[in-house]
Amino acid sequence: MLTATRLSHVVGACIDGLDASKPLSAQQQLWLSDALHQHGFIVLKKQSLSPSELVRFAQYWGEPSPHVIDTFHHPQDPRVLILSNVVKDGRPIGLADAGTYFHTDYSYLAVPARCTILHALDMPSGGNGTTFAHQAAAYDDLSALRKKQIAALVVRHHYGNRDDLNHQSRTVASVLTAEQAGRVSWVHHPLVKKHPFTGRRALYAVSGSSFGIEGMDDVQALALLRELSTHSTQDRYRHTHDYDNGDLVVWDNSLLLHAAPLVDLSRPRTLWRVTVLEGQASSQS
Ligand SMILES: [Fe+2]
Repeated sequence: MLTATRLSHVVGACIDGLDASKPLSAQQQLWLSDALHQHGFIVLKKQSLSPSELVRFAQYWGEPSPHVIDTFHHPQDPRVLILSNVVKDGRPIGLADAGTYFHTDYSYLAVPARCTILHALDMPSGGNGTTFAHQAAAYDDLSALRKKQIAALVVRHHYGNRDDLNHQSRTVASVLTAEQAGRVSWVHHPLVKKHPFTGRRALYAVSGSSFGIEGMDDVQALALLRELSTHSTQDRYRHTHDYDNGDLVVWDNSLLLHAAPLVDLSRPRTLWRVTVLEGQASSQS
């Protein structure tokens, strides 16, 4: 039997009763999807998935989309991105920095990400986790006037961290090669996003890739975006999940901002990631 245990007052649940390396029934898929929409992120403990099993699990949620940084795609399947701070023979084995600032995955794409799936393989103890901030709860707490003012605003997004463009810093978005940079362009998303499954409204990507607002000068737009991101990343909307080896995590990019930790390079940290796009997931059995 599947059970969900809350991990905090605002976001997250631990799911018991499932071996995710095995094919899921349609009923199990629906149960997990409902749990994700209710809790924002879910974690299944003590899992062990191969790259192909991880991709199959990801496909229950949507179409996996390879990351624009193709340097660290898994050799067995490019839809799996290796996140790691490990260096072997002088070369990094994975992407060391997956976004230490608050952001939501793929908000720089025209079709953004529904979910991100992470499988923790080799984690240092403590201080290794992802911090989530619940953007629907933050939206709910805005005044009626603020909600009205922002209801129809459209935001310009681009790959990167709006608040740090210095390529030498540790909080800049992972730097793209010229060829990778040529594959991303400006896209637009509503400031207030309706959840594609539940219809619940949330602030969308007010930190990270949001660089401006249509019809508003940049000074005014950035002031508004910073006001909203300061509000929506307060402690009361946050929860940090520290990973154990074997954790399999799914989070909802329409509901949450997240930030990865700045892990000391002397503490090896390796995960696999698959990101799936919004749109109809193909039900599998
Ligand atoms: Fe991310």
